[in-house]
Amino acid sequence: MNKYRKDFPFFKAIDEKSSVENKDLIYFDTAATAQRPFIVLNAMTHFYATENANPLRGLYSLSERATMAYENARDTVAKFINAKEAAEIVFTRNASESLNLVAYSWGLNRLHEGDEICVSIMEHHSNIVPWQMVCQKTGAKLVFMECDKETGIISDEEIAAKINSNTKIVSVVHVSNVLGVTNPVKKIGEAAHAVGAIFIVDGAQSAPHMKVDVQDFNADFFAMSGHKLCGPMGIGALYGKRALLEEMDPFLRGGEMIEYVTREKATWAEVPHKFEAGTVSAGDAVGMAAAIRYIQSIGLENIEAHDRELAERMMAGITQIPHINIIGPKDASKRCGIITFTLDGVHPHDIASLLSEEHIAIRAGHHCAQPLGQYLNQTATARASLYFYNTEEEVDCFLEKVAKLREWSGFKD
Ligand code: ALA
Repeated sequence: MNKYRKDFPFFKAIDEKSSVENKDLIYFDTAATAQRPFIVLNAMTHFYATENANPLRGLYSLSERATMAYENARDTVAKFINAKEAAEIVFTRNASESLNLVAYSWGLNRLHEGDEICVSIMEHHSNIVPWQMVCQKTGAKLVFMECDKETGIISDEEIAAKINSNTKIVSVVHVSNVLGVTNPVKKIGEAAHAVGAIFIVDGAQSAPHMKVDVQDFNADFFAMSGHKLCGPMGIGALYGKRALLEEMDPFLRGGEMIEYVTREKATWAEVPHKFEAGTVSAGDAVGMAAAIRYIQSIGLENIEAHDRELAERMMAGITQIPHINIIGPKDASKRCGIITFTLDGVHPHDIASLLSEEHIAIRAGHHCAQPLGQYLNQTATARASLYFYNTEEEVDCFLEKVAKLREWSGFKD
């Protein structure tokens, strides 16, 4: 997979502050954001250089081309996750905004006191905080499915115990950004639908690493971000079944999301446009579609296999280092390229700073999943996250440096 590194201007650039060439930087923070290949940047440049006009409203050919570029991007996203039709894809700013859209437009309008919203304990704040808001405003209750602290598995018993006749929304993360585990979304979706709840999947971490089929696990909504799959920041998508999108009120109101406006009121455009108020991020949508085509050309199966091999190599090495504690399962094949750990005596922030001096970028902190940290009794952890542009040599170098962290911190063993 090393051959793909040349596709990325990032790895050819020089960090102006440290004068270090990025090819010598070990970038292990793809779970936070991926790097972008030339092909994505070029697609965006091409759009703005040759097709730029405000899409969806102009009646001249340039605007029609801009509209076509934007709508083709929607089609690419729809096919990528196997939506039935492009109209089931709403462009948003990111997965967080996608989840907020459902919380505001579906949750706020339909939930009442006594209703329950069920999430898992390993959710990113994006899939907790919007539901807390819905609960505060409607009187509904937020319920957490807990997982096994060692394996990260949410048991069948836990699913059965937490999803019941009061449950109106079940919203779970597909792949945890801390534990790396893939949740049994098909099973959880069946449990949700059996009690008449809607089923939402946060796919921010899954879509970049594995083949996603929203029809297979019967999601009613699926949230994703562009920047984690080599696309630009500031563009994401919400998949929603057409019937649900049609019965929902708009989230944001303004230009181009209307059918007709009088002094007193307005009627809405057809889905998905009723959810896309104002000038759309067409250049970003074009970039996201180019990123999707790029990772499809590599093959999601190949990406998944490569991430797994590197994670297994990292896990085999890191578990040999004294005083390392792995957060979540030790079976790296189940971690989607995400290895989270602590080191006795060295704060995760210090781990990240010391590794940064060695030109290794990892994330440290609560990873926007504080309830999971509270559940596991870990206020902060260190996380290395891998992608197809990472190499075995990088993993070996990382392991060599991690082995020295305690010595650099003044410990004798
Ligand atoms: N959600 C991103 C992460 O896990 C930012 O780092």
